[in-house]
Amino acid sequence: MDFSLSEEQLMIQKAAREFAQQDCLPGVIERDEKQKFPLEQVEKLADLGFLGMMTDPQFGGAGMDTISYVLAMEEISKVDASVSVCMSVNNSLVCWGLEHYGNETQKNKYLTPLAQGKKEGQLYVGAFLLSEPEAGSDATHQHTSAIDHGDHYVLNGVKNWITNGSTASVYLVMAQTDANKGSKGINAFIVEKNWPGVSVGVKENKMGIRGSDTHAISFSDVKVPKENRIGADGFGFSFAMKTLNGGRIGIAAQALGIASGAYELALAYSKQRQSFGKPIHEHQAIQFKLAEMATRIQTARLLCYQAAWEKDHGLDYTTTAAMAKLHASDTAMWVTTEAVQVHGGYGFVKEFHVERLMRDAKITQIYEGTSEIQKMVIGRNITR
Ligand code: CAA
Repeated sequence: MDFSLSEEQLMIQKAAREFAQQDCLPGVIERDEKQKFPLEQVEKLADLGFLGMMTDPQFGGAGMDTISYVLAMEEISKVDASVSVCMSVNNSLVCWGLEHYGNETQKNKYLTPLAQGKKEGQLYVGAFLLSEPEAGSDATHQHTSAIDHGDHYVLNGVKNWITNGSTASVYLVMAQTDANKGSKGINAFIVEKNWPGVSVGVKENKMGIRGSDTHAISFSDVKVPKENRIGADGFGFSFAMKTLNGGRIGIAAQALGIASGAYELALAYSKQRQSFGKPIHEHQAIQFKLAEMATRIQTARLLCYQAAWEKDHGLDYTTTAAMAKLHASDTAMWVTTEAVQVHGGYGFVKEFHVERLMRDAKITQIYEGTSEIQKMVIGRNITR
């Protein structure tokens, strides 16, 4: 067993750390307050090759491994989780899904610009549309319908809580094509945002990741050419589940980053803040908190690395990815809450960043499968 990172992985980690410090840190508090989408930062992600990190260079990607992706996600999430969620969705849910299950025409037309993050000089990212007002965890019960009309489908329905909702140019949409077939009656479609009948709802006013543009998207008699269906008829639910398995590694790494960002701030503060005549980290009450934070973060990191390693080695990573997400998101919630506590009154003030990290942590226990869903996935797999 080798726990060391390669030269290339270390280089990517360093580039991501520099990007986070130089490009994401300035203005992060204001973007959070004003719910401002981090456009410049996401454009820079495209320049760095971080929007299609794992995609084959043949399709415009950087051809890196999943460990590198985890390293970059951790560094960026330490500073701004609104930037990293855009990166995670585009990499794991959109590019990976298209690369593995799209056909050559779909890959050439959509994957290449999505992995490059640019088309004709403009930002070009994607979104993943599975959740609905009445189908979140119970993703099998899709109400959005796609009716077969020979050479095209007609799409109707509403999708909720869509990351990159207004920024994305391309949506991967799951919809019911045959309600009698349950999960086998669902298909996945590539839909362009500017097609007639597609509308973007208002931006959600959220507790955390406030810069990220989360919207409802509705479809009213949208004509989707048959060549835009991904895979064989009825493959849509399987497509969504398989794609989400990798997505969960990305969100686990995001949660890891939020936790380690808060821990690093708490550690630095504990060395500088004095009380009862000494730096507060010399008090056992604070030192024990720091020790437990460091231990929980390290276990989350190891799970993220293991899930990424399994994926890179062609193994079934479903269970480890769910474990990584479950553990890292609980760690993020716990560590950020303790980081606020270590900061005392200052932790409750925006300038010290930890209150924002605590708010950002919460969503990692919810999106791409709640913690309860991760337990279902793990439980079903270990008892099979
Ligand atoms: N990997 C691969 N295949 C899977 C799978 C997985 N993780 N989970 C289920 N499947 C397959 C099953 O094997 C089964 O296939 P067969 O019929 O061939 O045997 C099929 O899918 C149906 O599965 P189930 O019978 O288990 O379906 P279910 O209705 O009982 O529940 C579920 C499945 C695991 C609860 C699923 O609905 C689920 O994961 N729900 C959570 C959805 C989710 O994560 N949503 C996140 C939204 S996306 C998002 O947040 C993106 C963003 O913007 C940040």
